[in-house]
Amino acid sequence: MTCRSIGRADAGIMGAFFIDAPPMLPADPIAAVTHADPYPYYRHLAQSRPFHFDPALKLWVAASAAAVAEVLGHSDARVRPVGQAVPPALAGAAAGELFGRLIRMNDGPAHAALKGIVMARLMRLDLDRVRVRTQQLAAALPRATSDDAHEAMRWMFTLPVLAVADTLGLPLHHDEDGHVSTRMAGFVATYAAAMSPLASAADVEAGNVAAQWLTRNVEQCADAAPHDGLLAALRQDAALADIAPPKWIANAVGLMIQACEATAGLVGNTLVALGREPTSARDNINARVARVAHDDPPVQNTRRFMAADAIIGGQPLRTGDTILVLLAAAAHDPDGAGPAEDRPWTFGTGRHGCPGAALAQMLAASTVQALLDRGVRPERLLPGLRYRPSVNARIPQFQ
Ligand code: HEM
Repeated sequence: MTCRSIGRADAGIMGAFFIDAPPMLPADPIAAVTHADPYPYYRHLAQSRPFHFDPALKLWVAASAAAVAEVLGHSDARVRPVGQAVPPALAGAAAGELFGRLIRMNDGPAHAALKGIVMARLMRLDLDRVRVRTQQLAAALPRATSDDAHEAMRWMFTLPVLAVADTLGLPLHHDEDGHVSTRMAGFVATYAAAMSPLASAADVEAGNVAAQWLTRNVEQCADAAPHDGLLAALRQDAALADIAPPKWIANAVGLMIQACEATAGLVGNTLVALGREPTSARDNINARVARVAHDDPPVQNTRRFMAADAIIGGQPLRTGDTILVLLAAAAHDPDGAGPAEDRPWTFGTGRHGCPGAALAQMLAASTVQALLDRGVRPERLLPGLRYRPSVNARIPQFQ
């Protein structure tokens, strides 16, 4: 099959487009995530159908900045369906146990106390120090091949996660040549893939192994973790707040998981943006990452599940209804500003808003810079650009 023969139906199944696919609108807001250029469609939705029901998807869709903010601020719009704390595919094994403990996946008291701790501790991180340590980690990652696409893919999914592990204070093993082990990042990526609704039974099985390994690793390292590291700080705050070890340990693992796919997407989308502009136009990488987080965001949507009947966007919603919250459409809403000054919509807002936004952008910029320093040329990545199949994350898959 040639690139040009991929029609809309095929693209829906594959969830991926070649960049020279014929320009057509995405079939729906889920196909938009991996579409070559979904932004005119998002803009149109935000303006013409700010909050509507999509009968084919059986989802309410929040598209305008105002509707997205209203949903994310609504107390009855929850991160999990009522009565289903863990997706059935993950329930009953290690992957589900970890999932059920993450603040990202809980509301109410199970979320609030630990979220406050995580947020306060991430806000107090010394980002300059983390940047320097990330550069040191980059220096310890060997260039495995001369293939730019391969290197970019490998680093996107490795360096940010290793940097978060290092910030926590988890030991990262080095071989006799001084090269850092990427094992931790491998397990994190495996777990993150298992959480996707597109995961196969084999992905979930691998996710169970990864969940066990990651949890055990944090448990076993906790006592010896450096006192000035993030893990020791989380442990201390959790003890003061009477939060049991399994919960804060799961959420320490959770920080690496949250850092994985979304930051990989931000790195990849920044490389795409750099590849599309002349080398002479390349400005400060930090500024470029911030612009990409707004213009071509890695997290395109999130979901909410109604725990009570409510009026949202002027429409009557029923308990059990699901809302697809289009963060990427809010970013392109001509009538909408950001959720807060300097904060791109891709990091969400409200009580579940991302506490790692500043860290993520710094890690993405450091990873892009390290790749450029290693001689990776973004323009060479473009001919093989596709997007990884996903219902919510826009992550380039360079071929
Ligand atoms: C470009 C990278 C990232 C993006 C786009 C991103 C985006 C998001 C979004 C949209 C949410 C909220 C989801 C929702 O409300 O449904 C979220 C939650 C979260 N993120 Fe990030 N994130 C990124 C990187 C990170 C990093 C590096 C960390 C920490 C090391 C992190 C930690 C978290 C945590 C702990 C939550 C759960 C917060 C809660 O549920 O209250 N994220 N992120």
